Amino acid sequence: MNEPNEPNEYVGYARMDALHSLQEPRTESPFEMSFILISQVKELLFRMVHLEVDQARARLREDCPAAACRALSRAVRHQRVLIGCWESMNAMPVDEFLVFRDTLGQASGTQSFMYRLLEFTLGNRDTAMVRSADLDAFPQLRAELDRPSLYDEVLRFLARSGFPVPEHLRTREPASRYEPDEGVEKVWLAVYRDPDGHRAAYDLAEQLLEMAYRFSHWRATHLLVVERMLGGKRGSGGSDGAAWLRTVNEHRFFPELWTMRSVL
Ligand code: HEM
Repeated sequence: MNEPNEPNEYVGYARMDALHSLQEPRTESPFEMSFILISQVKELLFRMVHLEVDQARARLREDCPAAACRALSRAVRHQRVLIGCWESMNAMPVDEFLVFRDTLGQASGTQSFMYRLLEFTLGNRDTAMVRSADLDAFPQLRAELDRPSLYDEVLRFLARSGFPVPEHLRTREPASRYEPDEGVEKVWLAVYRDPDGHRAAYDLAEQLLEMAYRFSHWRATHLLVVERMLGGKRGSGGSDGAAWLRTVNEHRFFPELWTMRSVL
């Protein structure tokens, strides 16, 4: 038995006491508390997705595509929960949001280092999206830029499996921005034209597309939430709000998996 003032095992194991002390609303609005809670839930889910993506990358390096696929499919489950979280956000009427919106100051989701770490790990390495002070404050982010992304490892795996992945992509500077490549598109075309002959690569491609699809689904729903809450107003981070997010929505992870469909 615990002493009367000690946390019980459940609370002590996962530090639930610390967890529930991490919400500090700046107004009396109960909606602000919900806003903080759902933002924290999403941050933790970004981390869960990241954990699995990191696993998938490690398994690919070991030439275990089936294990990589299992990790990606777990990540996709977490992504579905992430998308579902927008339901809770939409429970807040716009007038209630406006009660506390100004207290956010310039705080914005663009400053989420866990979201950016996930993007970097998957392969979207747009360093212009991160302030250099944040790269210093979150060393994990800077360290990630020195490692090949998940997509880099996918291309290396395909090359080791005998596919003609262009040389410059196998040895590319990990921190640089990935540019879609015709040679890679041809590799995916070969895979999709003969799924049974390229089973491992095909299964991997389908899991990657599922991840990319869910990521874009999350972004698209975020945009709808933003239109619902802000209309055409500017974002707290200083962007044009929905207009800026519409351009972000055009990005696709693993781009050749999308473009090759026009040719298949
Ligand atoms: C009322 C709810 C929300 C509104 C009105 C909103 C609004 C915005 C706006 C306008 C932007 C563009 C940047 C800016 O100027 O600030 C943005 C970016 C972003 N928001 Fe939200 N947001 C909301 C909820 C959330 C939640 C709950 C999360 C997840 C924790 C989130 C994550 C992000 C991320 C990651 C970005 C950057 C997207 C990128 O760089 O691709 N947002 N948000």
